[in-house]
Amino acid sequence: VSGALEKIADLVEREAGIQVKGSRLEALPAALGRAAPGVDAEAILATLADPAQGPALLGRLIDQVAVQETFFMREVDELEAIDWHRLLAAAHGRGASEVSVWVAACASGEEAYSVAMLATEAFGHGRPPVSILATDVSAAALRRAQEASYSERSTRELTEARRERFLVPDGSRSAVGEQLRSLVRLRRHNLVSDPAPPVGEVPFDLILCRNVLIYFGPDTVETVVAGLESALQPAGQLILGASDRLSSSARRRTALAGWEPRPTEASRSRRPPSRPSRASRDRLRAPRGPRARRRQAPEPAAEPSSAAEGDLAAAIAAANRGELTVAIEAATRVLAADPLDVDAHYVLGLSELAAGNPAAAVVSLRRALYFDPSFALAAFQLGRAYDRCGDGRAARRAYAWTLDALRRVDLGTRGVPGETDYGDIAAACSARLAGAE
Ligand SMILES: C[S@@+](CC[C@H](N)C(=O)[O-])C[C@H]1O[C@@H](n2cnc3c(N)ncnc32)[C@H](O)[C@@H]1O
Repeated sequence: VSGALEKIADLVEREAGIQVKGSRLEALPAALGRAAPGVDAEAILATLADPAQGPALLGRLIDQVAVQETFFMREVDELEAIDWHRLLAAAHGRGASEVSVWVAACASGEEAYSVAMLATEAFGHGRPPVSILATDVSAAALRRAQEASYSERSTRELTEARRERFLVPDGSRSAVGEQLRSLVRLRRHNLVSDPAPPVGEVPFDLILCRNVLIYFGPDTVETVVAGLESALQPAGQLILGASDRLSSSARRRTALAGWEPRPTEASRSRRPPSRPSRASRDRLRAPRGPRARRRQAPEPAAEPSSAAEGDLAAAIAAANRGELTVAIEAATRVLAADPLDVDAHYVLGLSELAAGNPAAAVVSLRRALYFDPSFALAAFQLGRAYDRCGDGRAARRAYAWTLDALRRVDLGTRGVPGETDYGDIAAACSARLAGAE
């Protein structure tokens, strides 16, 4: 691979965060050929350095390098789990009349229109009280989103009822009808270099940013996730994609399921009255669906298989000894290498909570939940952290989230006859919610 190609790859990463490494570097010449046909890498590099022509060429190059695969109702379970009525209540609570949504890295628009479909369904007939901003770094993708005419491949996951209701025939393709288009505003936005929320926008009730973080390096992920968090309303919801969460080890995760740090003396007295047993917590980490398969590893990891796993094992061991500062440092090291590591966020959050820093724990546990919204135990611990912060409203939301996540737990994992502690978490959450009313 030539030095010019590597320099071009560096420029792409600096501009859009997208890492062009390994086998993807081998695909770069083809992308260059599409962005600037017949021009060699050295000449492209020279043009990129030219202030007049460089930015447009870099934009075309990013269009070609970025993976823009998307389709309607991708990871539909997560989309269908959005609680539109709760979001609207939260919007009303801040004096707004509509739920504001940001679909970041929307590619050619299918995700934004899917969200518009679900909101329309949730609120019945007529125009739903929802406003959706859909952004992407790729001008070419945004043009396709604007045309809103899709192939059979893009619409393959749509039910017949949704096709009939929301799409209109467009030759061999299907076009999105006006009712959905009017809910979606399209705009160019670079997650790496543009502000969040985008200029002129106020923080959102719901942000989706799915299947893009996997193309970024750890530092970029950290910065982008922090930006998205700052673009959320306090009660807002951030949804990240399943592929963005794949980096963690399923073996390690199974071993982690029932773990909790040893509390310090100071925090021991603040324990909640009801805590689930280890066996029931293990089952709580086994939701149905593809993620369940990833998580149901045959055996807990006996030996750490990477530096990150070693660090997380060290964090757990330190926390078990009550050395919470060491635990926090080790979990932080894991996250420096892989900010998408759900388990490290969870271990960090629980260590922070045990160390008497519930505000930090809130941040960490919220992140664990962004990456895995079905992680009931993280939601439960988040409720505890909010309670310790004295934010009862947020705590109740977290307990309601826990109950919702528990409802999604595969019935097959629910309980073995004779074991009665499965419901401990649910009971604790219900009691807390009932007590609040
Ligand atoms: C695989 S698609 C994901 C589309 C959709 N979110 C989904 O889950 O189906 C990734 C998208 O991220 C966009 N993207 C890559 N880097 C970006 C950046 N720095 N800012 C905004 N969008 C970016 C790409 O242009 C591409 O459209």
